[in-house]
Formats: sequence, structure tokens, C-alpha cells
Amino acid sequence: MEIVICKTREEASKLAAKAIIDQVKAKPKSVLGLATGSTPVLMYKELGKAVKAKKVSFREVKSWNLDEYYGLAPTHDQSYRYFMNENLFKFIDINIKNTHVLNGLAKDPVKECKAYEAAIKRAGGIDLQVLGIGSDGHIAFNEPGTSLASRTSVVYLTPSTIKDNARLFFKGKMDEVPTRALSMGVGTICEAKKIILLAFGEGKQDAVKGMVEGGVSQFCTASALQMHPDAWVYCDEAAAKKLKLKYYYAWRSATKLGL
Ligand code: PGA
Repeated sequence: MEIVICKTREEASKLAAKAIIDQVKAKPKSVLGLATGSTPVLMYKELGKAVKAKKVSFREVKSWNLDEYYGLAPTHDQSYRYFMNENLFKFIDINIKNTHVLNGLAKDPVKECKAYEAAIKRAGGIDLQVLGIGSDGHIAFNEPGTSLASRTSVVYLTPSTIKDNARLFFKGKMDEVPTRALSMGVGTICEAKKIILLAFGEGKQDAVKGMVEGGVSQFCTASALQMHPDAWVYCDEAAAKKLKLKYYYAWRSATKLGL
């Protein structure tokens, strides 16, 4: 796992956007795994700017998102489909038909999850997966206690995630946050050829510490990335604060990136 530590989230978002742009330039038909949440918003803005400046095109890219709330329609303003349309897809030249988000209203959610996995496989697998991290160390909606071999399925949110998400996206109303979601599994995520995870702010210090320097454990599902051969963590100094070897990681990744 490579840890890129930047002074600010703006700087980290630019570097992470560069990783995506490089991927799409090298393989215009890339399959991207995308994430929602407040963390990737700045990076998505950078992608929008790059498309506007004609530095990259997403015309042939296909995307699959990590998760969706169970019970929310794609048109609901808190759904992750809506988030993606508003924060990324309308700013880049991707064909909306090539963007995939799990259907939160699926009549048969188990079937929906199986079909989603099959579609990713048919597309050749995910080339680059974008991730955020929850304050409890989750990736996608894989909460503590989820098998590190889990596949796309219906999952249950912890009270801490419900609280985090209510604060950011549901006008603070916890009882409006769905308690279940459809989510790619940890095993599914780890099959991506390359992974970039973004983590910003003091609230992510313990999660980042657990992911990077804790043992591999289902108690912090992000720690599964320790077993991945090409996983990159882009964080700001605040999120990296508790890492014992932060100066070593920063030097090593800056050298590898030629910074
Ligand atoms: P955030 O969420 O980007 O809004 O902090 C991250 C996550 O829960 O994965």
C-alpha cells in the first residue's frame, strides 16, 4: 500500500485526479469503480476541468459505483445515482448509459447484486477503483464485522455511519437515513486492478491508522487493502497524523510519483 501525504485536500485531490486521468489516457476504454461521499467531490471537479480543457475524454469509459441506499429512487436527491449525476457525470463527457449504480428500488435486491457483479465481470473487471473511507474504517458500505471476502449484497449500516451521513447529507435527520444499502463487497473491491482511496480531515485519523498500520481485520474493512498489490492512499496531513511511519511513507510515495 502506498501512502501519499499532501499538505491539503486540494493538493491530494489534484494528484488523485491525475491518477485517473493517466489511467483513462493509457486505456480510453477503462472500467472505473466510483465512490460517493464528500471526499471525492474536489477530485471530481478536477476531472470536470480536465475534460473542459480537452486534456482527457471519458467517452469510452464505463463506470460502476460502489453502493446505493436501499429504498431510495435514483431520482431522490440523497441517492447516490443523483449524487453522481450532479457531482461528476454532468461535468464529463461519459455516456450516461455506460454509468452504473445499483438500483436501490430493485424488487429482488439479491438478484440485482448478482447481476451487478456479472456485468462488471463481462466488462473485463474494474481497472481503477476510487474509494473513500468511513470514520469506522469502512469501504463502500462494508461496516466493521463484514467478511473481507464479501461480495455485492444487501448490507446494514452502523449507527455511526448513519450519524455521519445524516450530518452531511440528510440535513442532520438521522431517522431519514436508510438503514440498509446495496454495496459492493470487500472481495469485489479488492479484485480491481488498481485502487485509490482518499481520506481527508481529522475525523479520519483513526480509520487511516487502522487501515495502514493495524492488522488486517474485518473490524476495519479498509485494512483489506494491505493485501492488494496496487493500492494508493491519498490523504491530507490531518488524516495521516496518527501514522507512525508517515515521514517514510511520504518520502517513498513522492519518490515513486516523481514529486
Ligand atoms: P465521506 O464518506 O467522504 O463523506 O467522509 C466516506 C465514506 O463513508 O466512505
